[in-house]
Amino acid sequence: MASRGMNLCNVCLLLLYVIAAVLAGRDFYKILGVSKSASIRDIKKAYRKLALQLHPDRNQDDPQAQDKFADLGAAYEVLSDEEKRKQYDVFFCFQQDRNIPRGNDIILDLEVTLEEVYSGNFVEVVRNKPIAKEAPGKRKCNCRQEMRTTQLGPGRFQMTQEVVCDECPNIKLVNEERTLEVEIEQGVRDEMEYPFIGEGEPHIDGEPGDLRFRIKVLKHPVFERRGDDLYTNVTISLVEALVGFEMEITHLDGHKVHIVRDKITKPGARLWKKGEGLPNFDNVNIRGSLIITFDVDFPQTQLDEQQKNGIRSLLKQGSVQKVYNGLQGY
Ligand SMILES: *[C@@H]1O[C@H](CO)[C@@H](O)[C@H](O)[C@H]1NC(C)=O
Repeated sequence: MASRGMNLCNVCLLLLYVIAAVLAGRDFYKILGVSKSASIRDIKKAYRKLALQLHPDRNQDDPQAQDKFADLGAAYEVLSDEEKRKQYDVFFCFQQDRNIPRGNDIILDLEVTLEEVYSGNFVEVVRNKPIAKEAPGKRKCNCRQEMRTTQLGPGRFQMTQEVVCDECPNIKLVNEERTLEVEIEQGVRDEMEYPFIGEGEPHIDGEPGDLRFRIKVLKHPVFERRGDDLYTNVTISLVEALVGFEMEITHLDGHKVHIVRDKITKPGARLWKKGEGLPNFDNVNIRGSLIITFDVDFPQTQLDEQQKNGIRSLLKQGSVQKVYNGLQGY
């Protein structure tokens, strides 16, 4: 009996908490910048990132920093708990039709190098953000349609629809410089977006939209990315192709990848270096492969008769001269 009482009490507390959150009109998914179907891992990841980004120590010029940080904590507390999240989802559905006007979202392309994708980085973006400030005078706001009944005479009424507005203080938009810090995470993929909630275009009667940085990975002269794998080409000489060679490739973070070949290397031969690709975005301990394709540089100078005979006797390779349909791969 006692334990049932406890359980009930827990449920009550939970309900109270969720109702309070819903009534405050806070969209926890939006605060965390995740979709309604986000997994618990996505939520944890988003929280860790935003907690760094929104920490009041880092945003001393923002008077709302404390509130934003507290909201983030509340959002995380609810969405990271399966039970609380379920309750929240149920209640928040009813609230969705409250139509708060919203400023537009702004999407900015953020160009990142492959080096940054490999090692990760923090970049600072300075942005002139229009901020709504109170100005002298009044303006009409919260306008809506209302029905009005006027009595024209005994038993005669007229119903008319008219627009009714409130009076609000005037607002002017002032540009303020804001520095945003964006974390480029290891293994980040092209087109991924980093949301900054409420940093988009302001709306005079509502809340601002979001600012989203969209990752654009720049082309690299040495490495080409395919998923988590990196591709590169190496030209070797005909002599190296025949007798073997040793070399180093400088990787994206400057470390050297050592290659030793003892066997003959044919043009188009591929070498796989496991674990030398990019870190995986979801788990940086997993890395792709580096795939090296060789092509062979033939000597530029023509051989004289004596050299030709030397090679013939050295290689002792008879005539091959096979004619075939190479496009079909025979
Ligand atoms: C470079 O490597 C790629 C990938 O293996 C290959 O498709 C391409 O033909 C190579 N390029 C040259 C010039 O050999």
